[in-house]
Amino acid sequence: MAKIGIIGGSGFYKLEGLPVIQEEAVTNEYGTARISIAEYKGEEIVFMARHGASHSIPPHLVNYRANLKAMKDLGVDYIMTTAAVGSLHMLLAPGEFVLLSQFIDFTRQRVGTFFNEVDPNFKHVDVTEPFSGFLREKILTAAKERDIHIHPYGTYVCLEGPRFETAAEISMMRLLGGDVVGMTVVPEVVLARELDIDYATVAVVTNYGAGMAPGKVSHEEVYEVFGQAKVRLQKLIMAALDVIVDG
Ligand code: HPA
Repeated sequence: MAKIGIIGGSGFYKLEGLPVIQEEAVTNEYGTARISIAEYKGEEIVFMARHGASHSIPPHLVNYRANLKAMKDLGVDYIMTTAAVGSLHMLLAPGEFVLLSQFIDFTRQRVGTFFNEVDPNFKHVDVTEPFSGFLREKILTAAKERDIHIHPYGTYVCLEGPRFETAAEISMMRLLGGDVVGMTVVPEVVLARELDIDYATVAVVTNYGAGMAPGKVSHEEVYEVFGQAKVRLQKLIMAALDVIVDG
């Protein structure tokens, strides 16, 4: 059986209801990743909280390479992740789920590759379809089975952060074809592809993009809406685990 990893984004710091059998700090050439290993139906599930257990690591300081390399070294073949996002469309409301299908990268200061040195063996990886078709299908099946609504496609625009966007930036991203905006999925998805790990993300809309609704975008609002969606999100992730493990 293939090994499954889960990376929890903002507001998702542990797998509720799964007994943790081991917690450890895994160190590799890129740094240290904190992981917990849980068991589900006899399979090991590797969990990681992207921003740390107490949300102390801002998006631009997440050690994406240490995290992904740790997953690879632990033998993980499939990674499901969650991410809080802002919406770029009035019809895509806070609380809704989007299964990401594409991204546009506006990050500026992250090391987004494992091929960061002169190396005769470096590769250009294909990211025409950056998210795993296999995992996307399993997550869609799980959502259908549990009657959880999820938009099956969505283009994620990744910004450097940690600030939110200006109203003009949000208008621009919508014009460019984006559906949701966030700060973490790139380079995570790209690093997973470089390591040949299947990767998919369930994005949780926590707010409208800056300037789309009256008032400011706030950290508190993101947490509050995510908190309301959390039980549904955990249910979806567990259902997807079921579909993969039983499948
Ligand atoms: N912008 C960027 N990242 C986010 C947002 C947003 O509006 N909401 C949640 N993550």
